[in-house]
Amino acid sequence: MGSVDQRTIDWDDGVVVLVDQCALPGEYRLLRLRTVAELIDAIQRLAIRGAPALGAAGALGVALAARHGVNVEGEAERLAQARPTAVNLAWGVRRALAKLPSGADAVLAEALAVLTEDEELCRTASGHAADLIRELCPRRPLRLLTHCNAGRLATVSWGTALGVVWHLHAAGEVEYVLVDETRPLLQGARLTAWELADVGVPYRVLPDVAAASALARGLVDCVVVGADRVAANGDVANKVGTYGLALAAARHRVPFLVVAPSSTLDEHTPSGDLIEIEERHADEVTSWGGVPTAPAGAPVFNPAFDVTPAELITAVVTERGPG
Ligand code: MRU
Repeated sequence: MGSVDQRTIDWDDGVVVLVDQCALPGEYRLLRLRTVAELIDAIQRLAIRGAPALGAAGALGVALAARHGVNVEGEAERLAQARPTAVNLAWGVRRALAKLPSGADAVLAEALAVLTEDEELCRTASGHAADLIRELCPRRPLRLLTHCNAGRLATVSWGTALGVVWHLHAAGEVEYVLVDETRPLLQGARLTAWELADVGVPYRVLPDVAAASALARGLVDCVVVGADRVAANGDVANKVGTYGLALAAARHRVPFLVVAPSSTLDEHTPSGDLIEIEERHADEVTSWGGVPTAPAGAPVFNPAFDVTPAELITAVVTERGPG
């Protein structure tokens, strides 16, 4: 198990240190990255992932580049483009890069401020969401359902959707959390289940395809998820499968909450259909643990995210409260 004091991503004496999420749940280990190229590789392999954590990675990556002092703008641009959907990555890069005229120390100070703020914003946003759930859902204790991983591992240290669980669990208000396994890379089964077990929250992992029937059978009081980008009209890009979950929740009149720090809001993108959706490699769908699970060369559609229209979302909750 990892230490609860360990940030998911941090800076240590000129090095970016992060929890290697490819190794979990089997092994808890830290990676120490010295170059932007190493950091981009870690982002693309999903060793570090989740929108707020990617914001921190973007900012710390610029601090690395500024320290080495070679083509900082070019490195920052490559970093910002490492993954396209979570707006936080480019946001974190831009924020740190804006300090470059003041020197490498100023860039690092800004990056570290991004990390400290993320902890505070996620804790506050998830506190507001916990209060909203208390208002919306009369049943106690609560039965929640989540998708992907929006926990400590997806942020600097607290989480968004799972941050809500931490607040409610501390008050003794959680009966269980249903955890979508989250095909194809199993962020739910590997990471969310690991975090819930670590804290001692009762949970059950279910295949993504069982979520609609769990809602239909009345096993869920509220669905709570994170976000990779919230467009200006309130449409939300999040891990693929979120849209189907929102449709099923609406059909069964179960509240559907999105929790995110304001760094995930993108006022420059008017609506969800304009959000770039990352497509990932076919192997993620056609093999498991290196063993083929589909005919060789099977054509694949593997979007990493989908867009849930605002009309299906009960509320997007940030540190400012429900919106
Ligand atoms: O591909 P991933 O694992 O980076 O996708 C992560 C998600 O979709 C999360 O739900 C989102 O980033 C919110 S994390 C607080």
